[in-house]
Amino acid sequence: MIEKIGVIGSGQMGGGIAQVCAQAGYDVVLFDVVPAQLAKARANIEKSLRKLAEKAGIDAGAVEAAMARIKTSTIPEDLAPSDLVIEAISENEALKLDIFRQYDALLKPEAILASNTSSIPITRLASSTKRPDRVIGMHFMNPVPVMKLVELIRGHETSEETFSAVSAVVTKLGKEIAVSQDYPGFIVNRVLVPMLNEAAFAVYEGLASPEDVDKAMKLGTNQPMGPLALADFIGLDTVLAIMDVLYHGFKDPKYRPCPLLVKMVQAGHLGKKSGKGFFTYQ
Ligand code: 3HC
Repeated sequence: MIEKIGVIGSGQMGGGIAQVCAQAGYDVVLFDVVPAQLAKARANIEKSLRKLAEKAGIDAGAVEAAMARIKTSTIPEDLAPSDLVIEAISENEALKLDIFRQYDALLKPEAILASNTSSIPITRLASSTKRPDRVIGMHFMNPVPVMKLVELIRGHETSEETFSAVSAVVTKLGKEIAVSQDYPGFIVNRVLVPMLNEAAFAVYEGLASPEDVDKAMKLGTNQPMGPLALADFIGLDTVLAIMDVLYHGFKDPKYRPCPLLVKMVQAGHLGKKSGKGFFTYQ
């Protein structure tokens, strides 16, 4: 029975995951190595909860109660009592492998280790632990508090018991599950990110301006956001990292990252989080 959840990494995704878990009544420890990032995550979570409460007409007490269920920490041992730990750090495989090794040694034997990775093989993460049957992919969508989907990815050795315990958590969070096998990009990023990369190619080749690409796709295909605004929102570094995983994972040139995307990331134009990407942000 999962009651205590640990979240590693307090960026956009980790903060959102901690929030929805606390909203659903779980006790959460949100871990990060950078104290200032934890403070920022807490402020964002509170802002998001207030927005949701206002919309649903929920009283401020519910916001306080959810906030009280989230403890932030810079000490890995604070996650030791967790029944489920969800890793949500940036898409760096070496770092993720280190974290899986470290927490495998730290957590109680029955605890489940999940990764919010958008593209790194769950089987590889699992193989760095002594509990490959209790490792699973839990891929949340951004923005976590409003998006309905969680992709669940079975690693080669993920047990049925692990799968059903984590499915129950996702259901309690009020979200829907799509099940994917463990191949690069899973479902959402396999289909979505090459489309974002193709939109970058459209700009790179001078087919159209970023404004027109997004306008065409928003008004022409009823998407809530244009592909370039969505790429900025996800983070151009993350989009590039996912293209690299698809390219190397399938060894298929159809997944080659757009050179303009590579150059923008080199320039530090990472999208919304850096203030500049295909568009400019305040
Ligand atoms: N917390 C709480 N509420 C939030 C929120 C947050 N963090 N972000 C947005 N909202 C709410 C807003 O308050 C608003 O509520 P309302 O409709 O009742 O006023 C509602 O969500 C819509 O927000 P906005 O009016 O600000 O703007 P939009 O109507 O454009 O919606 C959006 C924003 C929900 C982000 C929408 O544009 C959208 O669905 N975009 C596509 C997002 C998407 O595709 N995400 C998946 C990316 S892929 C991924 O995450 C995988 C990863 O591995 C890369």
